[in-house]
Amino acid sequence: MTSTALNFDHDHVEMLIGTVETAADANAKAVQSTVLSPRFYTTDFSAMDRLNVEPVRAEWDAMMQEYEGDNNHDHFQRDAQFADEVKTLMPQLSPEMRQEFLDFLISSLTSEFSGCILYNEIRKHIDNPDIKKLMTYMARDESRHAGFINQSLKDFDLGIDLGQLKRQKNYTFFKPKYIYYATYLSEKIGYARYITIFRQLEKHPDKRFHPIFRWFERWCNDEFRHGESFALIMRANPHLLRGGNLLWIRFFILAVYATMYVRDHTRPLLHEAMGFESTDYDYKVFRITSDICRQVFPIEVDIDHPTFRACMTRLVELSLANAAAKQRGGVLGLIGRAVTATQAFFTFGRLYLVPVKKQALPAEIRMQPVW
Ligand SMILES: [Fe+2]
Ligand SMILES: [Fe+2]
Repeated sequence: MTSTALNFDHDHVEMLIGTVETAADANAKAVQSTVLSPRFYTTDFSAMDRLNVEPVRAEWDAMMQEYEGDNNHDHFQRDAQFADEVKTLMPQLSPEMRQEFLDFLISSLTSEFSGCILYNEIRKHIDNPDIKKLMTYMARDESRHAGFINQSLKDFDLGIDLGQLKRQKNYTFFKPKYIYYATYLSEKIGYARYITIFRQLEKHPDKRFHPIFRWFERWCNDEFRHGESFALIMRANPHLLRGGNLLWIRFFILAVYATMYVRDHTRPLLHEAMGFESTDYDYKVFRITSDICRQVFPIEVDIDHPTFRACMTRLVELSLANAAAKQRGGVLGLIGRAVTATQAFFTFGRLYLVPVKKQALPAEIRMQPVW
């Protein structure tokens, strides 16, 4: 299989991810809403209150026991080596690499915290004991994850004020079913991203340029379990997984994949430092995510289809052209942005029309994080 490597020079990368020099820059980056930045969500809480998980009771109860066991309760503590590694390794980063790494930390923190807020809000607004308990555990995990990343940002004096972020960021309303599709996917793709990095650096410890990556294995097991929870919710309510909803599922898979792909191609140095190339890393992540999604989605997008690959590449090029037009400013810049946005819309349309594969759902829903 060939991969189309797109190599951006640093000016292009900077145009897309900006520069973070101060804590104010870091906070502004976390608050900003763009097509690519992680969002905060709100939903129809009363519909969530009516969720019924009775059809999957046995698997649900086993999962709740795992949450209760809390095997990561002592995981998110830094060890003695952490500070030493930060002190030795961080001054070695080039300024460009430092910007890509900060972008990675800030967007990861924002999406961890997004989960934390959403799960907490659902918990506060419902009485359904099954869902309330689940949301309490998931908010607990995400709050640890966000806090742990924030400590690493504080090493750079770039800590994010989470209270302020919660108040200042825009919230997107999603119907509950969109929350299930999008959150399931982002938990599972989060697992796939972290485990792919962990396995790579396990094989090449010399490429582990920051100690935080040593935490990724047990960390991503939390994300895996969060995904399992939404898988059980959807399988307990099978109308979410058939008929017209399949069109929404297809949309969300492609939207999540395309966003990650474009976003990751703004961080070529980060992947190179880990011994990856952004395109190969992303296809590894797509493959793992697609394998996992067979537990719940009766359709799968064809990541090996030439049109799929061509459209992904095209979306990166258009995102660059859009950023260039934005930087140019003026009337020409505005026209350029409108044109590239329209082209991106049609490219996504082409991507949507790539035939999907159909599959029967397994009787046993739960999966183990074995990647
Ligand atoms: Fe998380
Ligand atoms: Fe999570």
